[in-house]
Formats: sequence, C-alpha cells, structure tokens
Amino acid sequence: MDEYNIKTVEEGLTKIQFPEFDKISSEAPVFYNPHMELNRDISILALQTFQKQENQDINICDLFGGSGIRGVRYKNEINGVDHVFINDISETANEYERHNVKLNNLEDIEIFQHDASMFLRMHRGEFDVIDIDPFGTPSPFLDSAGYCSRRNSLLCVTATDTSALCGTYKEPCIRKYNAKPYKSEYCHETGIRILAGFVALTLAKYSKSIEVKLSHSTEHYMRLYIEVKKGSKKSDECLKNIGYISHCKHCLYREQNKGLATSTPDICPECGEKLIQAGPLWLGDIQNAEFISKMIEESENKKLNTKEDVLKLLESCRVEAKSPATFYDVHKICKLLKISAPKLDLVFDNLEKEGFEAVKTHFNPLGIKTNAPLKKIKEIIKTLSSSN
Ligand SMILES: C[S@@+](CC[C@H](N)C(=O)[O-])C[C@H]1O[C@@H](n2cnc3c(N)ncnc32)[C@H](O)[C@@H]1O
Ligand SMILES: [Zn+2]
Repeated sequence: MDEYNIKTVEEGLTKIQFPEFDKISSEAPVFYNPHMELNRDISILALQTFQKQENQDINICDLFGGSGIRGVRYKNEINGVDHVFINDISETANEYERHNVKLNNLEDIEIFQHDASMFLRMHRGEFDVIDIDPFGTPSPFLDSAGYCSRRNSLLCVTATDTSALCGTYKEPCIRKYNAKPYKSEYCHETGIRILAGFVALTLAKYSKSIEVKLSHSTEHYMRLYIEVKKGSKKSDECLKNIGYISHCKHCLYREQNKGLATSTPDICPECGEKLIQAGPLWLGDIQNAEFISKMIEESENKKLNTKEDVLKLLESCRVEAKSPATFYDVHKICKLLKISAPKLDLVFDNLEKEGFEAVKTHFNPLGIKTNAPLKKIKEIIKTLSSSN
C-alpha cells in the first residue's frame, strides 16, 4: 500500500481510502468513481427497504468490490445486516477492501479474490442480496446470478455499456443481450427494458422470475433493483412480459407487442412507412411505487451527500410507475411538425383536461408518458403552439 498516494473520501457515514489516480479508469490500481455516489446512496435506501420488507437480518454479496465502498457502506449504514461478502478479482482491490473495513471498525465482512461467476457458484443460495457492479456489461455474470440467487432475494445490477443498450452500436447489444436495440428519443428506457428482459430470460432457465422494484438511467449507467422469485409457473407468467416495441421514425408512432415469438407489424398504421423493431425486451413494470415510497421514507433516517438529487430521482420514478412503456419528446414532435414548442406544463394540463393520464419521466425532462394516442398529442401541441 505504501507505493501509492492515498486519497480519502467520505460517503454517507463511511470513510474510504484508495490509491490516488489522475483519470477515472479501469486502469487505476483500485477503481473508484465519484459520479457513482448517487447510485450507491440509492442502493443504501433500496437495501434498507428490502431488509425491512424481509423483516430479518440479511447477507449481502458485493460481487465487484473495487475499494470495497459498497460492501463497507452496506454494513456500516444499513440496519439488520448480518454478513457482507466482498469479492474482487484484483489482489490490490482486496488489500484496500480489508483496509477500509478496518478504517470503519467493522466486523462480519469477509473479503474474497475470485472470478465473480466462480464466487457466486461457490456460495450458491447464501445471499439475500447480490450486487453486480462490473466494468461495462453485467451480461456474462447474470447466468451465475440466476443459478445462485435464492428465493425472494434482491438482485442489483449496474450496466455502463449504455451505447450498446441504447443502440448507438447495434451489434454489441445483440451479442451481449441477444436483443435488437433502437436509438430513438426514448432509447434509455428501451435500454433498461432490454437489460430487464435479458435478466428475466436468463433467470427463467432456473425457474426463477423477476419483479422490478426500481430502475433508473443516470449519466453513463443504468441500474436495476430486482426481486427474484422462484417457481416455474411464476417464471412462465413472468415471461409473458417479454415483447417488442415497433417504432416509426417518420411520424413517431410506436406500439408494443407482448410475446417472445409474437408477430410484429411491418407498416406504420399512421403514415404507411416501415416500422423498426426493438427487442426482445421487458414490457412489464420497471418501477414499483410502493417500494419507492418506502425508500423515500427511509431517506429520513440516512445521511446521504446526494440526498436532494436522490429524492428528485426517486419521486420521478415513483410517479412513472404504472405509466405506459415509452414516452414522447415534445421538442421532437414540434420539430417534426415544424412548429415552435409550447410550454410543457400546458401540454400536461391539456392532456389531463381531455381525460388522459400524463406524467413526467426521469428519462428525459421533455418527455411525456401518457395513454393518449399520438394523434391527440400532436393535436394538443399544434393548438397550443398556434396560440403562443
Ligand atoms: C466498476 S468496478 C467496481 C466498483 C465498486 N463496486 C464501486 O462502487 O466503487 C469493477 C471491479 O470489478 C473487478 N473485476 C473485474 N473483472 C472481474 C471478475 N471477472 N470477477 C470479479 N471481479 C472482477 C475489478 O477489479 C474492479 O475492481
Ligand atoms: Zn408513421
């Protein structure tokens, strides 16, 4: 450890040290990304909420420990945690994980140096929470997570390969997630749905099913909190949420079709142009209002440096629960119609006045999630724009 200059950071109630680096990179001797603090703060609330829901002490696996900041924070800041298992393939990471456990005077944390999949398989069924926070894609590790996760456990998954999931590059998404992405204005939502769909399909091999409690796309990453259930019947039911989104880039029409081997429309019913498909992906819920409300309540008991941003994000995700898949970008519609953009709030008011549901989305500040048909949205936007 003496060979490095040491940097100290404080997140929540926890102090963490690691070798100083010039650039956030997987090349750093031990990885630490300050931009992920919000992600970790949200994890504290999600895991505490899950622990209370289970009403028993929980064992947590921090599968890609890095500096150990997650595992150490989980033990230090969450009540009702029994053991924490921190794993990392890097020996240097292990050294700092041990150091950070001591620095925070913690017990009942064990440190391991294995490949992530090997580690999960060696400890099958031992964890109430598995946190997967790798470099890039979680895809190669999900099979072991599916095989090893226990009934009613929580699976937390980070993906930083957003260019694949959002469809900037199509082939990597097909290779890693066996799904076709599409780079539309709502591609971050499609990306989260592709990731959730891939988790559901992977877990189904082991007669397990998923319930997404919370998901968010923030900066350069996507994050899912998933409750894992067991049983082949539930798993069959769960797979009914897999399907496709067909999108028209000419008029912005889109529709969803559930079913893994379902037929999808080729031609846009609105303008007759060719539709583009994305999927297979998850068309079920990606937010759970009750779980998120409990997380929001839980924030009152926690010291979190990013609390203001966390609450803003959680509130947005809570409101999105039960809203339809995909959203409309008002500016994109205005560009298509060659009109100036009306005030966003007026669009919401008018949709509601006409009896439609309309909510904002954390995916895009200009986004509207609504059950109104596209024709109606365009009509409202045109009327508002002309009276501007
Ligand atoms: C993104 S970092 C983890 C960051 C950490 N969770 C945090 O919140 O700061 C990924 C870590 O995974 C480790 N790693 C890479 N490949 C691995 C593998 N196959 N099995 C286990 N650990 C691995 C790296 O050494 C690195 O520390
Ligand atoms: Zn069309």
